[in-house]
Amino acid sequence: MNNEVALITGASRGIGKGIAIAMAREGWNVVINFRGAKKAAEETKAECLQAARQSGHQIEAVEVQADISCPTDRKRILESVRERFGRLDILINNAGIAPKERADLLEASEESFDLLMQVNVKGPYFLTQACAKWMQDQKKSDPTRSPKIVTISSISAYTASVNRGDYCMSKAALSMLTPLFASRLAEDGIGVFEIRPGVIATDMTAGVKEKYDHLIESGLTPMPRWGTPDDVARTVLAICKDSFPFSVGEVINVDGGFHLRRL
Ligand SMILES: NC(=O)c1ccc[n+]([C@@H]2O[C@H](COP(=O)([O-])OP(=O)(O)OC[C@H]3O[C@@H](n4cnc5c(N)ncnc54)[C@H](O)[C@@H]3O)[C@@H](O)[C@H]2O)c1
Repeated sequence: MNNEVALITGASRGIGKGIAIAMAREGWNVVINFRGAKKAAEETKAECLQAARQSGHQIEAVEVQADISCPTDRKRILESVRERFGRLDILINNAGIAPKERADLLEASEESFDLLMQVNVKGPYFLTQACAKWMQDQKKSDPTRSPKIVTISSISAYTASVNRGDYCMSKAALSMLTPLFASRLAEDGIGVFEIRPGVIATDMTAGVKEKYDHLIESGLTPMPRWGTPDDVARTVLAICKDSFPFSVGEVINVDGGFHLRRL
């Protein structure tokens, strides 16, 4: 039994759920953080346990309902992990939100901007700070450990979408988290990475499915298909399995080639 523990934020559905299931299948204990509907998180937990069982692993999966933008909630997440497992090996900063309404750059509200910055930037930044300090302590008491922090950003970190400037601004800011924490934590042996997904089929993109279907058909991405949560999850697994031992602060595009400049 692998007793390593992964905390995945925003894991009740979509990309986070895909990551939690993939990690459970490989024998990691998983902490499923989420906000909102408990039922979805319970389903994720059941699927994680089933995936682990089917691959011959015995793991524990727990759900923690908490808003990562709220300091007391973040504290509670870590207290739950400490109480239940007494260790943390992997933090996956995945939770994130899109604006409630896509509004033109000249009309978009300050309220939406503040909310996106709180959830997409402030939450992961301070959760990473708290986890990093704990990981440093754990690494000191057991140097064989290999803690990691993986942040799910977006192609919106460098792509201008004028109908959701707040989202783009938040993902651009989030993309600075990895070089910062990678630089600070490299000497402690804590690996820090960023995954930059492209267009991924989840509830978040369900409302713009037709629009993106047409764009993909028209050549938006060299690989002509939607991405899936499993595409992202398999990349997370490669990082967590130490497949990049002398790399740190890397950005891995999981976008079907969206980032390539073409002529
Ligand atoms: N779907 C895409 O095309 C796409 C592309 C690039 C990046 N991303 C990013 O990937 C991440 C996951 O996206 P998704 O499509 O799976 O989204 P989703 O909306 O399907 O799921 C979001 C998850 O985050 C949780 N969450 C939301 N706010 C939270 C909060 N304040 N505290 C804790 N949990 C919270 C929800 O409970 C849910 O589990 C997000 O950061 C998103 O910006 C998505």
